Amino acid sequence: SGSHRGGPRIVLIGPMGVGKTTVGKLLADRLGVAFRDTDADIVAAQGREIADIFVDEGEPYFRDLERRAVRAAVEEHDGVLALGGGAVLDESTRALLSAHPVVYLSMDVEEAVKRTGLNQARPLLAVNPRKQWRELMDARRHLYAEVARAVVATDGRIPEEVAKAVLDAL
Ligand code: S3P
Repeated sequence: SGSHRGGPRIVLIGPMGVGKTTVGKLLADRLGVAFRDTDADIVAAQGREIADIFVDEGEPYFRDLERRAVRAAVEEHDGVLALGGGAVLDESTRALLSAHPVVYLSMDVEEAVKRTGLNQARPLLAVNPRKQWRELMDARRHLYAEVARAVVATDGRIPEEVAKAVLDAL
């Protein structure tokens, strides 16, 4: 729908573990464009893992890095872009995204706990996954919906099916 006016072809948002990276790579392959991931950009620039940045510097510091990483990626990248699950918490990021083809990959809480509950690399879920998931999604659901042009539910779907649904939705 509409011609491509620069910026990413597709921007994937949604909670951690929903498959933004896996689906993003499939989409990039299918479209013959590059894939970029702001979490990976931050890890590369900082030379340490996201969990270590959270522990060493605190979440606000990470969010500041993330705001800059998202801005740079949206300006520089014309392929498929995946953002960290909390990127939409930042108001200026949400404003920036309104000009781009943003797709929200969603999943329900049970699917989320299944996929991410034991993943220690995800510092926001380390203690009580189900409760923390509910709280996270209660705080964020409306932010994902606010910036998305399309929502694709991933529950019970394999990545190839999700990728096809993303292309169909845009
Ligand atoms: C976060 C999601 C993570 C990463 C960080 C914080 C969040 O990204 O940015 O652990 O606040 O939801 P993924 O969605 O790529 O796991």
